[in-house]
Amino acid sequence: MTTILAIESSCDETAVAISRDGREILSSVVLSQAEMHALYGGVVPEIASRKHIESITDLTRTALSEANLTAKDLDAVAVTYAPGLIGALLVGVGFAKGYAYANGLPLIPVHHIRGHIAANYIAFPELKPPFVCLVASGGHTLFVDVKDYTKFEILGSTRDDAAGEAFDKCARVLGLPYPGGAEMDRLAAQGDATRYKLPRANIRGEELDLSFSGLKTAVINLVHHAEQVGEEIVKPDLAACFTDAVCDAIVPRAIEACRRAGRKTFVIAGGVAANSHLRARLQKEADRAGLTTYFPPLSLCGDNAAMIACQAYFEYQAGVRAGLDLNAYATMAVDEEPKL
Ligand code: KG4
Ligand code: ZN
Repeated sequence: MTTILAIESSCDETAVAISRDGREILSSVVLSQAEMHALYGGVVPEIASRKHIESITDLTRTALSEANLTAKDLDAVAVTYAPGLIGALLVGVGFAKGYAYANGLPLIPVHHIRGHIAANYIAFPELKPPFVCLVASGGHTLFVDVKDYTKFEILGSTRDDAAGEAFDKCARVLGLPYPGGAEMDRLAAQGDATRYKLPRANIRGEELDLSFSGLKTAVINLVHHAEQVGEEIVKPDLAACFTDAVCDAIVPRAIEACRRAGRKTFVIAGGVAANSHLRARLQKEADRAGLTTYFPPLSLCGDNAAMIACQAYFEYQAGVRAGLDLNAYATMAVDEEPKL
């Protein structure tokens, strides 16, 4: 039996969770700072770091008490060490190092995107690699061939903005509060997806790569132009058109990624994977292509530490250990060897 306590602090959620043998989650606590950052229309890195420092000790106590455990019951401490906001990551890494040292526990570094993928192992006990996973979050959008629990290959990714970033920016120009992804989802459900013409980007020679910056700029220009000529933007319609453009970019590439990798199982992960329109379109096309799909519950799409605690088990099994000189990294590809 392997019990792991995991810390997640890569962006604006401070989270602690405890896993048993990977897939069983004994406790999981998440403290979102979103309301605080909403005042500024986006995440303020320095505020994020300070808030992590304020809450990480209490959250760890809560996670232990909810699981009815003490430090003596743990086999390892895990922490998200990349990618993310460097100051925010360093809070988690520093805390995890201290906790591991004080309690004589091994330290396991976990890649945030690997954690998002692992959220599916919690939701679906029968799910095993290999499979193709679409990871769509606030900072990343990529197709990954998950060859094994700790072996990954990137099949395609965004060249510029992540889908979540584009959702949040579009929401912002429409005057919706940060983070606007979920509200865009609700608005799009009532909108007419044919009213506004928005661009779709193709990257010659790299058919599985994506680009969302042109779409983002087109939305900003459209809204500014409307303001200048005194036209009213129909918000649900723009949300629907925008969502349609994002789906047009992601859905066919997801199916093609499965075909190229020779996988019959398709999985999704990350905050944008909560989008109901994207899920419906992916489900339809995956069914048509004869793929088996796993779409995690919304509670496991956004940032949490349960997914980190789950992936940590597989890293632990693979022998991954960090020393007390472990660093945090703002950027790191999901298929890179762990930097220990
Ligand atoms: O995975 P996540 O919680 O954090 C990162 O690692 O980035 O993703 C957050 C992103 C935000 O951009 C948020 O607006 C977006 O996920 N998001 C959504 C929805 N729910 C959250 N985007 C579209 N539709 C949603 N329902
Ligand atoms: Zn994330």
